[in-house]
Amino acid sequence: MRMYDIIKKKRDGGELTTDEINYFIGGVTDGSIPDYQISALCMAIYFRGMTPRETCDLTFAVRDSGERVDFSSINGIRVDKHSTGGVGDKTSLVVAPIVASFGIKVAKMSGRGLGHTGGTVDKLEAIEGFRTTLSDAEFIAQVNKIGLAIVGQSKQFAPADKKLYALRDVTATVDSMPLIAASIMGKKLAADDDCIVLDVKTGSGSFMKTVEESRELARLMVDIGKNAGKKMVALITNMDRPLGNAIGNSLEVIEAVETLHGCGPADLTEVCITLAGYMLSLSGKGTPEECETLAKQAISDGSALNKLIETVKAQGGGSKLIQNTDNFAKAEYSRPVISAVEGYIERVDTEAYGLASLALGAGRNKVEDKIDYSAGIILNKKTGDYVHKGDKLAVLYSNNPSTFAAAEEKLLAATKISGTEPKNEPLIYDVIK
Ligand code: URA
Repeated sequence: MRMYDIIKKKRDGGELTTDEINYFIGGVTDGSIPDYQISALCMAIYFRGMTPRETCDLTFAVRDSGERVDFSSINGIRVDKHSTGGVGDKTSLVVAPIVASFGIKVAKMSGRGLGHTGGTVDKLEAIEGFRTTLSDAEFIAQVNKIGLAIVGQSKQFAPADKKLYALRDVTATVDSMPLIAASIMGKKLAADDDCIVLDVKTGSGSFMKTVEESRELARLMVDIGKNAGKKMVALITNMDRPLGNAIGNSLEVIEAVETLHGCGPADLTEVCITLAGYMLSLSGKGTPEECETLAKQAISDGSALNKLIETVKAQGGGSKLIQNTDNFAKAEYSRPVISAVEGYIERVDTEAYGLASLALGAGRNKVEDKIDYSAGIILNKKTGDYVHKGDKLAVLYSNNPSTFAAAEEKLLAATKISGTEPKNEPLIYDVIK
């Protein structure tokens, strides 16, 4: 087989065979195919697309390019949730304990934030002492004992994706539906869950900017998961505005705890209840509606919050921080962002909000950058709110006050205030089964 022939076939609109796709991913993984040929095939896929069968083959080849986790010694049904990435998205910290409080196993391997999006592992590391690295034996024992463990991805999952993503990033081929689906699902399927709920974000804070694109991606990923024998559902959720009011690691943990106390922001609570409802429903606990009621109960009777406290304790974290979030270290400096104009917040550029938080120190530009866990933004006004001149739009937090000017400028530029009251967009656009 020759890489030249595979590129030419796809360039001319042909359908690649399973063997050709396996040959390609094999060569990406062992380094035998040069970067220029990998990039050329990505570009051909970008323009010509792939059939569902090709996309599925590509996903399975990516999944099989590295280690897989064996969860067979976990007793009971295993369910996971995966978000395509957003701003202020702390849903995992809320839904995982809700679901685990019903005896369903959540063996969660999460990512770190990069660029404008946050990551669950960084948020958890804002809890002093919390260990995001456990041995396989510790991880599995904890899931068997209390139903929930959350760690960073320590294994060499899907190494072909790492290489492909790095090349796509510099060859303008990231936004190709089959390449995105194979990248996300290739990594997801390397873990050994029975059920997966996907949270496909749509809008200005997500890499899928329209609901139609998000729907298409969700359909593709749900079908791939089902082909791999998983129970699947995808929700299409609104990322045209940050989720909740807090952006930044410890600020988001605090908001997640407030949500588990039943007093979180309405938008975050709604998305969490819906996600948890589908996770419980896929796990056999009833219809999605019945399971939403269960999820609400787990919040009102305190069992979900207790499960989070138990998990934090088990992983060495300061559970007193969760019991009383006033104990979280505060940023040394804060600065209010004041509106100079009057009108409705017509829309916001959510990605720019994420970048403003990153500028304050809450995220990293490079993998090796250090995070300021207490840095971030609390939003006082969101899309649809009416603001008067002099109203506080947000408060910025950082241990480095020299970051405030750039963050404030970004936030103001990203907030369109006008006389037009925006249409009330749904939080959950669709459910793809
Ligand atoms: N997230 C991924 O993991 N891969 C993509 O291609 C896009 C988003």
